Amino acid sequence: MEHNEQADAPPFSHAPLPAEQDDGAADDWTRDDADSMAVDSYHSGALAEHAAEAVDAAPPAPSAEAGTHEDAQMVVDEEEETKRHLNVVFIGHVDAGKSTAGGQILFLSGQVDDRTIQKYEKEAKDKSRESWYMAYIMDTNEEERLKGKTVEVGRAHFETENTRFTILDAPGHKSYVPNMISGASQADIGVLVISARKGEFETGYERGGQTREHVLLAKTLGVAKLIVVINKMDEPTVQWSKERYDEIEGKMVPFLKSSGYNVKKDVQFLPISGLCGTNMKTRMDKSICSWWDGPCLFEVLDHIEVPLRDPNGPVRMPIIDKYKDMGTIVMGKLESGTIREGDSLFVMPNKSNVKVIGISLDEKKVRRAGPAENVRVKLSGIEEEDIMAGFVLSSIANHVGAFTEFNAQLQILELLDNAIFTAGYKAVLHIHSVVEECEIVDLIEEVDMKKKNEIDPKKKKPGRKPLFVKNGAVVVCRIQVNNLICIEKFSDFPQLGRFTLRTEGKTVAVGKVVDVPPIGSTKFSA
Ligand code: GTP
Ligand code: MG
Repeated sequence: MEHNEQADAPPFSHAPLPAEQDDGAADDWTRDDADSMAVDSYHSGALAEHAAEAVDAAPPAPSAEAGTHEDAQMVVDEEEETKRHLNVVFIGHVDAGKSTAGGQILFLSGQVDDRTIQKYEKEAKDKSRESWYMAYIMDTNEEERLKGKTVEVGRAHFETENTRFTILDAPGHKSYVPNMISGASQADIGVLVISARKGEFETGYERGGQTREHVLLAKTLGVAKLIVVINKMDEPTVQWSKERYDEIEGKMVPFLKSSGYNVKKDVQFLPISGLCGTNMKTRMDKSICSWWDGPCLFEVLDHIEVPLRDPNGPVRMPIIDKYKDMGTIVMGKLESGTIREGDSLFVMPNKSNVKVIGISLDEKKVRRAGPAENVRVKLSGIEEEDIMAGFVLSSIANHVGAFTEFNAQLQILELLDNAIFTAGYKAVLHIHSVVEECEIVDLIEEVDMKKKNEIDPKKKKPGRKPLFVKNGAVVVCRIQVNNLICIEKFSDFPQLGRFTLRTEGKTVAVGKVVDVPPIGSTKFSA
């Protein structure tokens, strides 16, 4: 079932920070196989869902559909739908063609009619951005269209034979890495878009390019599988050259391995032209490219295997945004468990007792939502002002912990000029939807990754306790924040236990939570 109506959905809001680069080469430790998806899904329908022309990142306006005409909506029963649902984030260097590919997907799946495309062609031409018309499907605000750069994470939906997808179109520009982090943290799989155009692959891949930073962040944030699309294969400097394709794949493989991806199991490469729509919905036309015998993008997406999540696990939904609409609505990705109408839950860290009075998936009301769904949950028992992004909707029994300090294993990527990483180092912590100032208060142990000595509290001989560490080091340290944050040990709950540290807009470290204070305490005892 396809629609071509547009509904308004909020862009994700983060104040853009000036970002620079990193050149991270995390080892296997960022890997985990616990990332997964839901097979449960309760609605169908491909609906282009944009913040139509929304220029700022204000909290979501209630849409007509979600709001006043609520009663007219059909409540979709869980038994009706068998298609699985996956969130797919489009990542990669600026101008690689992420929005163009996303727009093309919507066009190929029949959600954008020719008239709209013609309108975008004209608008793009008027802005002297002729070739951007496909990207205009995803880039909906004026600033994005003028500059030809995505700022907010664009959202849209489409379906293949077996799967419903939510596309999250991340910005590639280094200034908007925090927005990219927000998009990637909601995704199960990623489409890494790489431009094959002469010079463009090189700029994206070299130090300072976002290809590297995005891959590393995606891995840290839980993007379990990557589809690497080598894009712009139609471009005059490429002309579907197999040599160019092989060159890029050859350079990407070792880098992806060093970022923690198991290339054989978790990564798939394919050539496309996002602008022309080649090798996307249908297999490669041999008259365009004779050497590609592999699948097209829709096939790869449709068949991608992602481990199942446990729908019976405890409820964990990091809150990304909230608004008022005849009640308090919170939005986020349900990382674990199932939410049903009528459930009593906690909003953590304040242990606010709330009741679920409505659930919607992509503007459709449902009675329950399973893990990996992007949901909007209407709550009673709490005011919108009492909720902040980063709070977690949690089951009452076995609720998520809230702490002001934790121990983490950190991999230092690249510190700012002359900085040393030592006790007293301050940075911005990004962990699920939390963004919080933090301070490193103690370096506990430097880890020798060659020996792969993962941190074992029972280990008799601890590693060396360093005074400071340098770029590339892996170190266990204690981190403090001023406000209570809801986190989990990575080994218990990877989605709520991995994070990045950023300083002055640059990712300086990636890490995982290895220990938290005992239940009932917010701090470790002295
Ligand atoms: P950011 O959002 O700023 O990170 O960029 P993006 O990755 O979304 O790139 P976008 O889709 O805006 O495209 C950038 C430019 O590349 C536009 O001029 C597109 O027309 C062009 N482009 C994208 N895909 C293709 C392609 O397959 N072939 C050719 N020839 N050009 C492409
Ligand atoms: Mg874009």
